[in-house]
Amino acid sequence: MILIIDFGSQFNQLIARRVRECKVYCQIVPPTIKLAEIRKLNPEGIILSGGPASIYEKKSPKVHKGIFKLGIPILGICYGMQFMVAALGGKVQKSRKREYGFAELKVKSAGQLFKTVGRRTQCWMSHGDSITKPPAGFKITGYTANTPIAAAMDLKNKFYGLQFHPEVEHTPKGKDMLRSFLFDVCKCSKSWTMKSFSQECITEIQAQVGRKKVILGLSGGVDSSVAAVLIHKAIGRHLTCIFVDNGLLRKDEALQLKKTLKENLNINIRFVSAKRKFLSALAGVTDPEKKRKIIGKIFMDVFEAEARKIKGAEFLAQGTLYPDVIESQSAFGGPTAVIKSHHNVGGLPRKMKLKLVEPLKYLFKDEVRQLGKALGLSDQMVWRQPFPGPGLTIRIIGSVQSRRLAILREVDAILLEEIRSAGYYRRLWQSFAVLLPLKSVGIMGDHRTYENIVAVRAVTSKDAMTADWAKLPHKLLGRISNRIINEVKGVNRVVYDISSKPPSTIEWE
Ligand code: XMP
Repeated sequence: MILIIDFGSQFNQLIARRVRECKVYCQIVPPTIKLAEIRKLNPEGIILSGGPASIYEKKSPKVHKGIFKLGIPILGICYGMQFMVAALGGKVQKSRKREYGFAELKVKSAGQLFKTVGRRTQCWMSHGDSITKPPAGFKITGYTANTPIAAAMDLKNKFYGLQFHPEVEHTPKGKDMLRSFLFDVCKCSKSWTMKSFSQECITEIQAQVGRKKVILGLSGGVDSSVAAVLIHKAIGRHLTCIFVDNGLLRKDEALQLKKTLKENLNINIRFVSAKRKFLSALAGVTDPEKKRKIIGKIFMDVFEAEARKIKGAEFLAQGTLYPDVIESQSAFGGPTAVIKSHHNVGGLPRKMKLKLVEPLKYLFKDEVRQLGKALGLSDQMVWRQPFPGPGLTIRIIGSVQSRRLAILREVDAILLEEIRSAGYYRRLWQSFAVLLPLKSVGIMGDHRTYENIVAVRAVTSKDAMTADWAKLPHKLLGRISNRIINEVKGVNRVVYDISSKPPSTIEWE
């Protein structure tokens, strides 16, 4: 494995992604990590990440200098390189001006890192301070117009430094450099596959849980489903899943979950039907935040009541992912308490004195999908688009009633069917319908109609922070509109939402 010391760069997750794309396992750890712990982890190599600080700042992050005596190859990137240079006796000069953007790297000496890079290549710079003198034993291997020491190495100790960022797309040969570090310098093997990971995970879960009982809240989403399958493989019937049917899911979703997880995989699931509870609490409520609060509270009550029936349960499993973990560990401090309030059960562990099991906490979303596939889940389960916890409630503008839910469910099912068969489902971040609290006049046959309007929303996005409305083909939009109006009683008009986020949001409420 490769250890990445997190000095706070915004690109750290990318370094981890690149390493894992090479099928090498890696972990991001805070610089406060103890030397003894590093020894115990026994990494093949260490990457010192970039970071926003200057090594001259008093509070700049530092890792124990003993890492340079462990005999482990080290790659310092940007701030990481400067830290290494300063720690080993070289000179870093404070500069007032930041160098930011593209630069041409001229390779002086290929060494192992630049073996396949050629003599010149583009690289991405983002630094304030510069190295003016490398430590004894180091050789300058690359420079740019503004940075005379852009790359350096100490071949004997296997220390490498890059002033630029090899992990970003703007450094096209960066992946080659990282690959050379992993395989030529660190001699890593390509052993990180989902199969090997799931095996390790299963062993770990067995060791953590033993013969005790585990509860898991199933939402119908990818993460909790994959976590359920994995934990089930590890402890079988000692896992009990709870699925709270709030009546706010899409058409047939609860059924599909039942079929896949309960019938096909024989996972122990308790289906709690609480539709009526949710609907009656939502009656007449129009404010989106109020809707969310009501749903959160009822979910928690129902879940807790069901969980208490499982006698002797000591663990609560959650599908927390790596980005959540990284976000909640500060670059300078170290991991803080990592409890994401998945499906609003955040308070439950303390209340019921449960310990957490989080088997996906080192995975990125697409890795969870790969794991799901490796565990035998269908494409439909694994590639499900994100779906908000409050479900269709926040897609029915105004008050939620069962008739309105029924209309939206039918509309949404047609929309998804068309999006899927046109091959757009995976390409879109989300695609869904919104039922408006408006009526408009239409004509059907020879009759005047006065019916509901639905809006179709389809967006592309990387992380939901920003989103663009999808430029779906007119033919597809036409088919969607035609089918909805013809097949769903109560709808006579379809509009397409052409707003991006920001300034709009993805959901309408
Ligand atoms: P917005 O509408 O803020 O949505 O652009 C960003 C992403 O978050 C999802 N979303 C929610 N997910 N509970 C959830 O679990 C919520 O209350 C909620 N509101 C929005 C939304 O579907 C999109 O993916």
